[in-house]
Amino acid sequence: SVGFLLVFLSAALVAADQDYEGYRIYDVIPSNAEQAKLLHQLSLQGFDFIGESRLLGHPSRVIVSPEQLEKFEQFVEGEKITNSLVNSNLGASIAEEFAQLQMQRLLAPITGKGRLSTERYYTHEEIINYIDDLAERFPSRVYVRTVGWSYHKRVLKTITVTNGDGRSGKKVIFLDGGFHAREWISPAAVLYVIDQLVEQFEENAHLLKDYDWVILPMVNPDGYEHTQTGTLARMWRKTRQPYKSGTTTCYGADPNRNFDFHWNEEGASSNPCADTYAGPTAFSEPETIVVRDLMHSLSDRGVMYLTIHSYGNYLLYPWGWTSDLPENWEDLDAVASTGAEAIKSATGTEYTYGSSTRVLYIAAGASDDYGYYAGFNISITMELPGAGSIGFNPPVTRIDEFVTETWIGIRAMAEKLIEMY
Ligand code: ARG
Ligand code: ZN
Repeated sequence: SVGFLLVFLSAALVAADQDYEGYRIYDVIPSNAEQAKLLHQLSLQGFDFIGESRLLGHPSRVIVSPEQLEKFEQFVEGEKITNSLVNSNLGASIAEEFAQLQMQRLLAPITGKGRLSTERYYTHEEIINYIDDLAERFPSRVYVRTVGWSYHKRVLKTITVTNGDGRSGKKVIFLDGGFHAREWISPAAVLYVIDQLVEQFEENAHLLKDYDWVILPMVNPDGYEHTQTGTLARMWRKTRQPYKSGTTTCYGADPNRNFDFHWNEEGASSNPCADTYAGPTAFSEPETIVVRDLMHSLSDRGVMYLTIHSYGNYLLYPWGWTSDLPENWEDLDAVASTGAEAIKSATGTEYTYGSSTRVLYIAAGASDDYGYYAGFNISITMELPGAGSIGFNPPVTRIDEFVTETWIGIRAMAEKLIEMY
């Protein structure tokens, strides 16, 4: 029976994969500025911080390999940093979740036509098929355009959603997802926004009256596809272009450290093997060039840039390269707080909002800073809530809850924007 096959498959997947075996996850809580700084330094020394906070009293989450364990324990004991073990064998957790996802795919194979359900995650190919299909079904309101190719020559396409009145030169909201490969809920949330704008047009017509929405649902398809190839790959963050580091080859740059605005300054790494590698030069990645060129081509009409990541429940605005605030920070704060409040009153989920550097950490070369610098008055990184053993892996049973909640926030921010600009 299918049930038997699935149980068998899942057991085989769990048993076969020893990746992340013995890795642990800790929450560490900085209680003063000095401790926060020390933790940030640790993140630049090869410790993988999967959720990092600048806020005192808020936990940062870090993956600790068996080899790093001794150093880590000495560090937290020596510096008296509050910590707790949240997962004692990451390998087992990821393998189990991965098997579940594979099963879901077997049970519900689709090719990406018609309305997509929120019952599972989709491949890059399915996402492309889906937007192509939408353009065919709604030719007067939806346009799909090829905007470039990834390093491995996967196609990057934008979908522009309009109200079909034929008026050109409208203001623009530019939305993207899938910057970081492992943040699967990001493209899922962006697909839901597309669905609502297109299929629930009557309800959302006010969002399209004076604005076109230009949406790039998948910035980093090479990374995203890589995360679906195995459990170690599941935690991949960067792009996939190979880089030599001495005699070894490491892959990818952090697309969100690769933009040419204070490129490779604080919070970015020059080490090709690091998760926050800025790349050998700014815009070394074909994927970030695509985003850059889109931003410039839209900048005279572009009012809001919104980029979807996970996780941490943040609405972040510039600057991320300095703790200074941009000139119109009150507008940025008004839009972000509107999103946070709409979500809080709808579902109770709390978002922290503020400048990236002030509420999260300093990180230069990111797309939000670049978008703001390129002319988008409102530029926001939305970090969705975490779930699953590590935070990047909400189980498929929770996709619907996450994407509908995200839409509530995005819609509220767009409404605020329309009122303000
Ligand atoms: N988690 C995101 C990252 O590390 C946050 C980026 C926020 N923006 C910024 N300019 N630092 O890429
Ligand atoms: Zn991210």
